[in-house]
Amino acid sequence: LSRSYHEKVIDHYERPRNVGSLPRTDSDVGTGLVGAPACGDVMKLQIRVDERTNKIVDVKFKTFGCGSAIASSSYMTERVRGMSLDEASKIKNTEIAKELSLPPVKLHCSMLAEDAIKSAIKDYKSKRSALSAPNVNNISQQSSTQATA
Ligand code: FES
Repeated sequence: LSRSYHEKVIDHYERPRNVGSLPRTDSDVGTGLVGAPACGDVMKLQIRVDERTNKIVDVKFKTFGCGSAIASSSYMTERVRGMSLDEASKIKNTEIAKELSLPPVKLHCSMLAEDAIKSAIKDYKSKRSALSAPNVNNISQQSSTQATA
């Protein structure tokens, strides 16, 4: 990474925080997997949510992309830990870009981090609603039993 980059980007790029994966099949884990069409870079961001408080208790990322994308995702993981899902969903890429002093040409890299957290939250919520939805098989069994009674 060129020395013209802000030291915070270099710091996150050289020592990224929270790199790794969480088990995708866990019911309290949401996974966001997003790509930037402009450059083909890909970011995976995962959150583990406390079901009682709706707060993010763990977060991991893996980014196959440029230094700014790696720094943006690393920053995002530090930012959202301990936040509620509502708070985390409101983080804008402009905040990340400002914090890391990204140049305008690298704005889409921070957009990837915003997309990734939103996508992880959406995945978690759809998992929870699938779990709390009534079991479709049971319903159809019940109605066929009623029909023959
Ligand atoms: Fe593609 Fe940065 S150049 S995410």
